[in-house]
Amino acid sequence: MSDIRVGVIGATGAVGREMLSLIQERRFPAREVRVFASERSAGMTIPFAGGDLIVEVPSEEVFGDLDLALFSAGGRVSRAFARAASRAGCMVVDNSSAFRMEDDVPLVVPEINAAALDGHRNLVANPNCTTIVNALAVAPLHDAFRLRRMVVASYQAASGAGAAGLAELMGGTRGHLEGDESPPEVFAAPLPFNVVPQIGAVGEDGGTDEEAKMGTETRKILGVPDLEVVCTCVRVPVARAHGVASTLWFERPVDMKRARAALDQAPGIRWHDLPTPRAASARDEVLVGRLRAVPFDERALTLFAVGDQVRKGAALNALQIAERLIADR
Ligand SMILES: NC(=O)c1ccc[n+]([C@@H]2O[C@H](COP(=O)([O-])OP(=O)(O)OC[C@H]3O[C@@H](n4cnc5c(N)ncnc54)[C@H](OP(=O)(O)O)[C@@H]3O)[C@@H](O)[C@H]2O)c1
Repeated sequence: MSDIRVGVIGATGAVGREMLSLIQERRFPAREVRVFASERSAGMTIPFAGGDLIVEVPSEEVFGDLDLALFSAGGRVSRAFARAASRAGCMVVDNSSAFRMEDDVPLVVPEINAAALDGHRNLVANPNCTTIVNALAVAPLHDAFRLRRMVVASYQAASGAGAAGLAELMGGTRGHLEGDESPPEVFAAPLPFNVVPQIGAVGEDGGTDEEAKMGTETRKILGVPDLEVVCTCVRVPVARAHGVASTLWFERPVDMKRARAALDQAPGIRWHDLPTPRAASARDEVLVGRLRAVPFDERALTLFAVGDQVRKGAALNALQIAERLIADR
């Protein structure tokens, strides 16, 4: 079926560019692809499938001429257009956090909860990138032993803060080595040769939005409303791919052989003896390793997972959702 007219909103950004390359790589059934960004980029061209696409500025009217809109231009743009687009009959997959927790919006990682797409109302949310990486490793273990609690520390790449984040890491690293580093604009503290244990603003409870998402979104994806979650999100000077160190407590005692078998058989993840961001970059699968029992609790285990957050954490997951929406049309 190649009658799909696709719009990529945020096409000049880190996620948008990845979407355009995945549309080609996966031979996504698009009859037409249109690209949208801010006024700053209007009229510029983006190479695509041997030609050039001209960047447009989104308006409500354009969505009547699209069958599928892939939003990755931040929450403000999604809030401005996504609901109206879905009402106009355009299927929307949104990468921002604007609608993730709305009751009528499925929050989907296809390998885990594709069934949540049943009865969708043309608007589906892509989960937070760190949540996707962690959830893919955790879901098969939840199926085996029933997850009750998790304590997570993330190791998040600079490109998680978009094209500007990656540029700040690269430019800052050069500046630091040459003794001429500018103050950070994207990150809360200088990222080169550092780790920054704060992503986004700190709220009244001392936590950040990024940390809260790990709890709220994982509960919705796994369908465990009382799941106990503590998360510390940390930015690390890595270009691409987010890591998570995740310690999990279950209802049932853990059989480590069965845990490993569950991870080996699960879709979307791959066992790796030493999962690193560089090993995970540009790969579809999330890499999982460092699986260990917790010596003082037979109902717990701990692991490390890492996944390309621009790809599986955003663009790829969105396209996989879109492929299912199209197949079910
Ligand atoms: N980066 C990641 O790893 C990641 C992972 C998961 C989810 N996300 C989410 O995906 C979204 C995009 O992230 P990103 O990392 O790709 O950001 P980015 O690199 O900063 O790109 C942002 C994109 O949004 C466009 N944009 C900004 N304001 C706009 C407006 N008023 N109208 C139309 N387009 C506008 C930008 O266009 P201009 O170039 O013209 O400014 C650019 O194309 C965000 O919601 C983010 O939270 C990102």
